[in-house]
Amino acid sequence: MQVVKLAGNTYVRGDCVAGCQALIQDETVDLIVTDPPYGIGGGALHKHYNRDEKFVLDGYIDVPADQYQDFSLAWIAQAARILKPGGQIYIVSGYTHLYEIMHALRQTPLVEVNHLVWKYPFGVYTRRKFITSHYHILLYARPPLEKSTFNLCSRFGLEERDADGRSLNYRDREDVWTINRRYQPGKIKNKNELPQELLVKILQYSSSEGDLVCDLFMGGFTTAKACIGLNRRFIGFELSQRAFEHQIVEISQLEPGKLLTKLRKPATDRLTNRGGAWSEKDKRKLLREYQGLIRAGLKQKEALAQLSGKYLRGEWSLKRVLKAGQQ
Ligand SMILES: C[S@@+](CC[C@H](N)C(=O)[O-])C[C@H]1O[C@@H](n2cnc3c(N)ncnc32)[C@H](O)[C@@H]1O
Repeated sequence: MQVVKLAGNTYVRGDCVAGCQALIQDETVDLIVTDPPYGIGGGALHKHYNRDEKFVLDGYIDVPADQYQDFSLAWIAQAARILKPGGQIYIVSGYTHLYEIMHALRQTPLVEVNHLVWKYPFGVYTRRKFITSHYHILLYARPPLEKSTFNLCSRFGLEERDADGRSLNYRDREDVWTINRRYQPGKIKNKNELPQELLVKILQYSSSEGDLVCDLFMGGFTTAKACIGLNRRFIGFELSQRAFEHQIVEISQLEPGKLLTKLRKPATDRLTNRGGAWSEKDKRKLLREYQGLIRAGLKQKEALAQLSGKYLRGEWSLKRVLKAGQQ
């Protein structure tokens, strides 16, 4: 195992299970964002993706399919051990070994928060069946969930709308994300590098500056790079010597906090109807919509936050109207 410390962050060349055991104490990590090897014969990936392999580092180490279950049980047990109470884990997975990952998660105290679908516009082309154009992103957390970070307005204020009047915040928080894979012709990359946009979105919602983020399978160090750019602390592991040696040079040249200046600034306090009178029609509509959201499984707080954005009113005002309507 090789441990490199740079600007307060830790990068480990070695197996993530042994590395976690040796280097990370119980309940010390705020967030894990990781993308384990897919167990589909990493060496053949270029055949599916029809890309020029001469720019792909031959450093990707895959896991044989018949070992995938034990492999998943081992690393997911470590992930569960190192997360703080309320800490969250995002796992990116294809469907091939989704079962093994979900099975391993169920052997831990972690609970499911969301099952996201990451849809990418250019799928794997097939003629005799449908075209695969998504990954799964499993979001689990260590209870109690009240301690979990979820920065509701980190990207869009509740009151922000698109040209058709639809809530941007709502749309950004739907559980199907359409994000392009990175197209970087002529640039050296790891197999299956995640797009920076995806990592930034995860980090914005589920972490704050200074939080400790871990990636057990760094590959192209994309999680690490996003963390440096957003001033999150980082610890991560990569088994491949070749990938590690290439990326550690790149990472040492990055400027901390640089991505923060590029983030969109959400408008958070434009509740323009605050204090205004309610029409009877709006009161009835609010009650109906509130009841619908509660029936759909939202907690009172979540429903109020959503409706506050829609009606451009404070939550206190909504509560008052709802209380009167329910009597
Ligand atoms: C799917 S890739 C990660 C890609 C990464 N998220 C990115 O955006 O570049 C999985 C990585 O895990 C590495 N790996 C495989 N087994 C490992 C292990 N036991 N410990 C640490 N890394 C491992 C592989 O070499 C590969 O680089």
